[in-house]
Amino acid sequence: MSGAPFGFRPDQPEPDTDEEATEQLPADAVVDLAAARREAGIDEVLERLDTELVGLAPVKTRIAEIAALLLVDRMRERYGIAAPRPTLHMCFTGNPGTGKTTVALRMADLLHRLGYLRRGHLVSVTRDDLVGEYVGHTAPKTKDVIKRAMGGVLFIDEAYYLYKAENDRDYGSESIEILLQVMEAHRDDLVVVLAGYADKMDTFFAANPGMQSRIAHHITFPDYTVDELEEIAVLMTDGLHYRLSDEAREALRRYLDRRVGQPWFANARSVRNAVERARLRQARRLVEQDDPRVDLAALTTIEAPDLLASRVFREDAEPGATVRSA
Ligand SMILES: Nc1ncnc2c1ncn2[C@@H]1O[C@H](COP(=O)(O)OP(=O)(O)OP(=O)(O)O)[C@@H](O)[C@H]1O
Ligand SMILES: [Mg+2]
Repeated sequence: MSGAPFGFRPDQPEPDTDEEATEQLPADAVVDLAAARREAGIDEVLERLDTELVGLAPVKTRIAEIAALLLVDRMRERYGIAAPRPTLHMCFTGNPGTGKTTVALRMADLLHRLGYLRRGHLVSVTRDDLVGEYVGHTAPKTKDVIKRAMGGVLFIDEAYYLYKAENDRDYGSESIEILLQVMEAHRDDLVVVLAGYADKMDTFFAANPGMQSRIAHHITFPDYTVDELEEIAVLMTDGLHYRLSDEAREALRRYLDRRVGQPWFANARSVRNAVERARLRQARRLVEQDDPRVDLAALTTIEAPDLLASRVFREDAEPGATVRSA
């Protein structure tokens, strides 16, 4: 039935997995889970998740579990066991830069490969994309976003701003109502991920028990340790085809040790900013040096001064100075 309360219809064909309608297996048949994993490309996604994302062990474990569940469900289906698809709405809590958006993107891809999501794309929004400013604006805005996200993941950053406890006429609650209905009625065609700080999310759930009850997975993204941040920096520089000299590596370590305790620290995002700034300084150093000739090694090496010039090291000289970025 296209009895969708809001008339959201797939604008892309259903996955062909269903069309091929493989014959039901007899009870004594045996299926090969490893082959099924390979076919769906699950191992590849999980392996990339593991090598390309530093740390996040609990997050990786949960994703592997979800992948296993969907795979087992699929195999059971082949024996004719029809069970409703599991709800996969999730909540990602953690501080800025802990990898929530990145993991949501990978999750969308994985769920697509597993045949759970038709499209596997991600639509990332905040309150402003969902809630209007005047009477009658909110419903069309929210429905439009949902329509775009159908078949994929709807990622709502800082979801708790949808609800304003102090204002019961706020249009946010209208948006929440619509989301709640869609999360129920279209749970097999849309995965909603709510993201944000843990404490604010708790308050939000306390005030919106309907939302809480629709979330199947609560995943916590811990802050990275300095070791992990260092590893992330190395991954990022590698990815950009730079290397850190031994002295630069030491400078990086000192940089991170200081940076984590300073204002506006945002985990991996701060690392990315620091790497970008080091690139800028390296470029300027090369362009301004007396001898204008450079080789590949010079072009691809970050040296200690490229990091040590950061404001992070000037804190002592300027007590009370606020570091806003790298
Ligand atoms: N574990 C990790 N390993 C490698 N890179 C990472 C990791 N986590 C995050 N990054 C990188 O750090 C940057 C910030 O990550 P991301 O945007 O996913 O964080 P976030 O939790 O969504 O942050 P925000 O709350 O600021 O939106 C991205 O460039 C991402 O690629
Ligand atoms: Mg994000």
